[in-house]
Amino acid sequence: MARFIQQLQEHTHDIHQELIAGLTAEQASASPKYLYDALGSKLFEAICELPEYYPTRTEAQIFATHAEEIARSTGRGTTLIDLGAGNCAKAARLFPFLQPSQYVPVDISVTFLRDAVDRLQQQFPQIDMVGVGMDFSSALTLPDEVNAGNRLFFYPGSSIGNFTPEESLTFLKRVHAACVKNGKAEGGLLIGVDLVKDKAVLDAAYDDALGVTAAFNLNLLRHLNRLLEADFDLREWRHRGFFNGESSRIEMHLEAASDQLVRWQGGERRFARGERIHTENSYKYTRQDFVKLLQVAGFRNVAVWTDPQEWFLVCHAHAA
Ligand code: AVI
Repeated sequence: MARFIQQLQEHTHDIHQELIAGLTAEQASASPKYLYDALGSKLFEAICELPEYYPTRTEAQIFATHAEEIARSTGRGTTLIDLGAGNCAKAARLFPFLQPSQYVPVDISVTFLRDAVDRLQQQFPQIDMVGVGMDFSSALTLPDEVNAGNRLFFYPGSSIGNFTPEESLTFLKRVHAACVKNGKAEGGLLIGVDLVKDKAVLDAAYDDALGVTAAFNLNLLRHLNRLLEADFDLREWRHRGFFNGESSRIEMHLEAASDQLVRWQGGERRFARGERIHTENSYKYTRQDFVKLLQVAGFRNVAVWTDPQEWFLVCHAHAA
């Protein structure tokens, strides 16, 4: 069995406060982290199988085509820290090339992660594995069990796009700081980023014909019902997902299909028909802008790989 460490969990009280502040704001919102309860994580896996959702397969194609070259750039035998590891499949595919000395999958969805790491440890008994349950979006303090030297942070899937560019910079600086050992920066970051492209391709990726992304978005309301003892009626809400070119981001919203009153423990809000809850942004970058962001965060020597259509970018950035 792999070792598993649960970092401090957020207090239920703080979660309630954060959610209620978002729901009662003039422009209602809910953090995208609430998309990922157990069912939400499964629905996201299903999204990755959709023909419209190109990021997963395009990134996989880049890794498959350039794995040797990527491994030459990152070096082998690193401490591979997989941020938002999910089912750990992306990192596992790179194990034969990267040959990590330690594998540290980190995820907020603890139950999902625990099963995945246990399965993987049986498959790769030679790799030391330490699963960490934590929300790394606000802090990146890793437990002592994680080797301090030669860290390769792995952040695939363009999850960085779910932060604003300002939050991304803060996050990248934090990753850079976590690569410093005894005052010396070493290791780096291997990251996947989605690129700006035709609006029709982007719109379809976030509003698929089968309605899986709609279910993924609506499931957030089920999660809120559970967390807040709220009474959102899912049938009265619609998924909206579209590219906002001005902000260079996909926006996901849940739109009220009728005038309604939603109650939760200790509060309520009236939503008018057409009113929206903003649930997620997914920023799309140009290659130049993203490399610049890495450099501003303190990374050096950025190597990049892309697909023939230039839809997706994989970068390896050295901490020193
Ligand atoms: C996890 N993240 C990178 C996905 C994205 O593309 O922004 C989440 C997602 N939302 C809708 N579809 C996928």
